[in-house]
Amino acid sequence: SVLDMEVEQINKGNYEHYMQKEIHEQPESLRTTMRGRLIRGGSCKAKTVLLGGLKDHLKTIRRSRRIVFIGCGTSYNAALAARPILEELSGVPVTMEVASDLLDRQGPIYREDTAVFVSQSGETADTLHALQYAQENGALCVGITNTVGSAISRNTHCGVHINAGCEIGVASTKAYTSQIVVMAMLALAIGGDTISNQARREAIIDGLVDLPNKVREVLKLDEEMKDLAKLLIAEQSLLVFGRGYNYATALEGALKVKEVALMHSEGILAGEMKHGPLALVDENLSIVVIATHDTCFSKQQSVIQQLHARKGRLIVICSKGKASMVCPSGSCRAIEVPQVEDCLQPVVNIVPLQLLAYHLTVLRGYNVDQPRNLAKSVTTQ
Ligand code: G6P
Repeated sequence: SVLDMEVEQINKGNYEHYMQKEIHEQPESLRTTMRGRLIRGGSCKAKTVLLGGLKDHLKTIRRSRRIVFIGCGTSYNAALAARPILEELSGVPVTMEVASDLLDRQGPIYREDTAVFVSQSGETADTLHALQYAQENGALCVGITNTVGSAISRNTHCGVHINAGCEIGVASTKAYTSQIVVMAMLALAIGGDTISNQARREAIIDGLVDLPNKVREVLKLDEEMKDLAKLLIAEQSLLVFGRGYNYATALEGALKVKEVALMHSEGILAGEMKHGPLALVDENLSIVVIATHDTCFSKQQSVIQQLHARKGRLIVICSKGKASMVCPSGSCRAIEVPQVEDCLQPVVNIVPLQLLAYHLTVLRGYNVDQPRNLAKSVTTQ
């Protein structure tokens, strides 16, 4: 009805689409996610993390034999992005399960496991069934959802709400970045406060506090990503290479492009380049390489060189001021993003790819907020 349309326009504010609004809202949604959870503790002034919904279970989680992340789609990717920092700070092995695949295999879940269910809606059927399965197997079940009162938040033993605010676009954007932030805070909460990791912990907490500002900065790439979308509008395919902290960014960037822009796109683990993907590369193939500054940087530089030698059309996401280190001869297009603490870099790096997917979709004339064949919440198996 006319009224519905007017309400919708009010909800979208000054934006044309929900996805666009939700991408640009991320400085605020991230701030809400962290509100009241990062504190300066007591007399020693040490910075700590407080996750109210978990505090009675932290001991059990620390003592568990394994942490297993379970989710679907973007929620799975968010967990993958947080995996390295969870491994580093918790000292507990961390494994990953796509919910449907865990169910297909009836994979092992033990009493000594902590199973973490990540879901924006809290209602995804596969994730919910996997939760039931993990409950039956006696694991401690933790929920990370955006929806208070959802099935997953009700049926887990404990959990954290990401508080990103209502997300309407079918393609998840602000929930993704808030999920990563919650899982980074989870890593800090589980990890012990030892002298040896104090500097690292403080750097991450300082990084979290400043993250909304960095995301606001990276959103200024909007026009640049629109220009890039114009160049890529007629492509058949787009590959996205990442590794380490940003393997998840490659998967999630490609997922955005395929689900809304309806363009074939694959996220590729850069370390696997020579085991197949390199065969695809020629002068007709566009490739995004994520090469921000971290311990994997020199490996990514060599990946860029090899893709360049095969004449791939390269778009490199790099740290501010580092463009000349990733494309010395001006041979590729560099997208410079602000540098943050390595484990938080995925939150910054996904933003230009969200913008690219958004603009590609609009330019190609497809429905941004409700891509064909897809649903916001997949409640059937
Ligand atoms: C659907 C949505 C995705 C979402 C996935 C998992 O596929 O279109 O955006 O990432 O479900 O949803 P969840 O609510 O469990 O995070």
